[in-house]
Amino acid sequence: MSTRVRLIELAPGGAGDAEAVDRIMLAAFDPRYGEAWTRSQCIGILAMPGVWLTLARVDEAVVGFALVRAIMDEAELLLIAVDPPARRSGVGAALLRGVIAECEGRGVAKLHLEVRANNPAVALYAAHGFRHAGVRRNYYRGPGGQAFDAHTYARELEIHR
Ligand SMILES: CC(C)(COP(=O)(O)OP(=O)(O)OC[C@H]1O[C@@H](n2cnc3c(N)ncnc32)[C@H](O)[C@@H]1OP(=O)(O)O)[C@@H](O)C(=O)NCCC(=O)NCCS
Repeated sequence: MSTRVRLIELAPGGAGDAEAVDRIMLAAFDPRYGEAWTRSQCIGILAMPGVWLTLARVDEAVVGFALVRAIMDEAELLLIAVDPPARRSGVGAALLRGVIAECEGRGVAKLHLEVRANNPAVALYAAHGFRHAGVRRNYYRGPGGQAFDAHTYARELEIHR
């Protein structure tokens, strides 16, 4: 019996990757919660200072991405998403580790994120040292008008500069 290890490659992305990001966005986010961003929202934010995109590839195909915004020594993980067929094989964790390393290299001391109350991504964040910081009541609104709370998390980083 042979086992094939699939290499996860991380690389910076940009507005030219909007199509791949859009594809993952539509596949990854459940439309019931209204969390996905539009292509123009992604392109718009990528033009702002301190914003960067990280792409995860397996066998040269984009299977996930993370979008981050840094302001001074704090940053926010705006989005992280993995194509459903590629999940539970370490892509999300690799992206998160990559984001943390990039933040530390840029002098970011604290990384924040916010997640819908019942999103299983919370397990991923907890496993990477994020601590619960607060609740934003009725922050997300699904297409049917149903409201969902958001939970904020944060992690202190070690600056490597
Ligand atoms: C959250 C998400 C990015 C995780 O991606 P992934 O590639 O499946 O994550 P990994 O395989 O690296 O998972 C690492 C660990 O996180 C935890 N985890 C990830 N997804 C989980 C789930 N659905 N349920 C429970 N634990 C989960 C587990 O501890 C997992 O380790 P294990 O597989 O050894 O048990 C992916 O599920 C996704 O794209 N979700 C939709 C988009 C989203 O809601 N993003 C977060 C808000 S922006």
